Amino acid sequence: MSGTACACREIKSREIEIDYNLLDKIIRVDYGGNKEAMIMMMQAIQQVYRFLPEAAVQYLSQVIDVPTTKIYEVATFYASFSLEPKGKYILSVCTGTACHLRGSGGMVEHISKRLGITPGKTTSDLKLTLETVNCVGACAVAPVVVIDEKCHPKADISMLNDFIDHLNAE
Ligand code: FES
Repeated sequence: MSGTACACREIKSREIEIDYNLLDKIIRVDYGGNKEAMIMMMQAIQQVYRFLPEAAVQYLSQVIDVPTTKIYEVATFYASFSLEPKGKYILSVCTGTACHLRGSGGMVEHISKRLGITPGKTTSDLKLTLETVNCVGACAVAPVVVIDEKCHPKADISMLNDFIDHLNAE
């Protein structure tokens, strides 16, 4: 599709307001609308929304003239892409060997129970996404929890409870 305005500019995706000017900047300005840069465009869009909203995928497809099925194929192939909204906070529990031996499995279970979500899922209020990761390279201070890219060494259930209490109070 060319640079003309289109009716889909009003589309909202899962209650997410899509900023089409920003999408245009990413797709047309930053990457010159070049379909070869599709993955980088997808990464940039995900950085904005913390996932790939359906309307953004449709718009990207129209602008670079690549079928949405191809974009979804790429999005599902790479684990770094998410097609579901992520929470305001992303809490990753390391389940690598050193962390596992020091009880990270119990921490995952505890968070899952308290928040009613399994790893990979997000709370219904979109406050938190629970993830697991395999070794973040800090085995000496296992078990490790990463909250929004900040590493928390020697994590324990009491620390996690404090964080969840803080979330609930927000
Ligand atoms: S196993 Fe968790 S940091 Fe290495």
